[in-house]
Amino acid sequence: MCGIIGYTGFRKAAPILLDALKRLEYRGYDSAGIAVINHEIKVEKRSGYVSYLSGNMEGHVGIGHTRWATHGEPTDINAHPFVDCRNEFAIVHNGIIENHEKLKEDLIKKGHRYSSKTDSEVIAHLLEEEYEKAGDFRKAFINAINRLKGSFAIAAIHKGEKRIMGVKKESPLIVGIGDGENFLASDVPAFLPYTNRVVILEDGDVCEITPKSVSFYDMNGNPVEKKEEYIDWSPESAEKSGYEHFMLKEIYEQPVAIENTVHSLFSTHIDLKYHGKINVIACGTSYNAGFAGKYLMEKMLKIPVEMHYSSEYRTRPNVRERALSILITQSGETADTLMAAKIARKRGHETLAITNVLGSSITHHVDHVLYTSAGPEIGVAATKTFMAQLASMYYLSAKLGVDYGIINESRHEEFMEEFRRIPRLIENSLQLEDDIKKIAYELKDKEHMFYIARGINYPLAMEGALKMKEISYIHAEAYPAGELKHGPLALIRKGTPVVAIVSKDETYEKMLSNIKEVSARGAYVIAISSESEVKSYVDQWIRTPSNNPDFSTFSSAVVLQLLAYHTAKLRGCEIDKPRNLAKSVTVE
Ligand code: AGP
Repeated sequence: MCGIIGYTGFRKAAPILLDALKRLEYRGYDSAGIAVINHEIKVEKRSGYVSYLSGNMEGHVGIGHTRWATHGEPTDINAHPFVDCRNEFAIVHNGIIENHEKLKEDLIKKGHRYSSKTDSEVIAHLLEEEYEKAGDFRKAFINAINRLKGSFAIAAIHKGEKRIMGVKKESPLIVGIGDGENFLASDVPAFLPYTNRVVILEDGDVCEITPKSVSFYDMNGNPVEKKEEYIDWSPESAEKSGYEHFMLKEIYEQPVAIENTVHSLFSTHIDLKYHGKINVIACGTSYNAGFAGKYLMEKMLKIPVEMHYSSEYRTRPNVRERALSILITQSGETADTLMAAKIARKRGHETLAITNVLGSSITHHVDHVLYTSAGPEIGVAATKTFMAQLASMYYLSAKLGVDYGIINESRHEEFMEEFRRIPRLIENSLQLEDDIKKIAYELKDKEHMFYIARGINYPLAMEGALKMKEISYIHAEAYPAGELKHGPLALIRKGTPVVAIVSKDETYEKMLSNIKEVSARGAYVIAISSESEVKSYVDQWIRTPSNNPDFSTFSSAVVLQLLAYHTAKLRGCEIDKPRNLAKSVTVE
């Protein structure tokens, strides 16, 4: 949601800014703009796509932005960057300025004129006012940001200067260190073709970058030391590499994503206390990964694992409990999950985050972090990060089983043997793509679908339905198979597609009965199962590799992702950037 880029260096800024904004498109946006200094500040901004911008401007210092509207419609005027009345400062902002109305009112009284309906524009006017008093860009910037309430990542430029000032508070901002050039961005892929050396800002960090230097300060202007890190992502990892969509590429990257995640899990040491209770808190796909993990965790640990949607967590009364709270978020920036992490900590829980982004905001609000190493995920629909989260939950279940003295070494080893086979399992399922394409053809004109499953497969059904609706816009609902007859069965009629996930475990016989139930009402049943017996009860059978039912989640997930992908493709949908959605949701 919203993307920031800043460039100062020896190259022409505009093409770099536009290229970076394209790389940030996956975050979701509805307008875009850039500002470049060449004697004076020139701004170009438009509602719609980055490609609408010409970038026809000279100059070696500039900032750019992709906006996802929160205050004010997505119009040309409301797009960033914003300038002050004298066109001496330009700013871009992610987040929300909570006290913007009061600030705006005061500034208008002092003669400032506003062009937009946004909360962000106030920052440019504050800079103008503070510069009049301080006479120095850095001082003015620090004074201005201290007057803001809310969440923000800001980049600002000043006419006649090569430096860019930045600040991070509850919205990501990363400095990229080059040779004779430096960058500022909300996410690493923005500057990945130019450098892998980064400094990840933490809340309250201010940075000042020039072509040859990067320096850091706190919000009072005192210098602070920051650690430089090396990101081992390649520029190609954020490119499509011949795939038609990022989503398909990311589906195919899953075996490697899991290999890397397993490697990183094995090399991370975390020591978690026994509390007798675990909460899992997340949104969307991350919730579904956590939910599937819950089934395994309860089976292994024999303690309650309770699921919470992050956005609902704050409404939960502060019940007395000792618990480990696991926050799952691929981006590490989801506002609802950040808030839930703060609340869980306040309630005295031990907190652990599972995230894919090094140094992301969530990592500053928890006691422990487990990194998935899935690499950058550009498609808005999460795929490889889902698998990596699921694998992390499996790993954690086994690790805690041993740490808590609940499972013995030999059970652990047995489990780990299966665990290490996950990448192969995924590879085998990827070979089903041609069969899945044919079934997608049958679904392409449908408007409603159901996904049914029992036990650990139920969260998979939820994930399958979520993928289908977010990228193909087909209304898809997931139900625990046993719940159908308590209402939704009324919606099943001739030709209604029902995807059933069937494992050969204690739910098997009951799943077959549920399939017969919907078949008898004319449903078009697509079964995902390793069991050949299922074939005789359904219209389509997608035969997944036969394996331990606890691990069939990984093969079923691949099938569900590909089914959604091919259906959406046949419907001509914009797969990587579905309407109304953003990759990281930084508003509550
Ligand atoms: C996934 O396909 C969705 N786009 C969405 O549900 C996502 O999983 C959710 O917004 C949570 O994001 P996070 O993992 O970055 O917190």
